[in-house]
Amino acid sequence: MSDGWHYAIDADEVEEEDVMPAEIDGREIAIYCVEGEFYASVDRCTHGDAQLSEGIVIDDVIECPLHQGRFCVRDGRALSPPVSDPIATFPTKVEDGKVYVQLSSGSPTA
Ligand code: FES
Repeated sequence: MSDGWHYAIDADEVEEEDVMPAEIDGREIAIYCVEGEFYASVDRCTHGDAQLSEGIVIDDVIECPLHQGRFCVRDGRALSPPVSDPIATFPTKVEDGKVYVQLSSGSPTA
């Protein structure tokens, strides 16, 4: 796809207030569904070696499964200790029931 848009996952695979892992070009991405909107971030906590797709989504917040640090899935802000560095987030769009994520070649992966 042009402009860095990549297919990530079928929209119906991500339940409301849930998160699923997706691999795009070898990069691990977490896909969230909040109030019918899809969000994407790196699938790696900035505090340690944990996959955010194994965490819990509460409203628009992802809670890391390892030490329960929290990030906003909309903009990646770190919300509560022990996390302090934000996670990288990416634009998403849905077409024909499929979720696409925009990754540029310079997009961070962790
Ligand atoms: S690894 Fe995520 S809060 Fe520690």
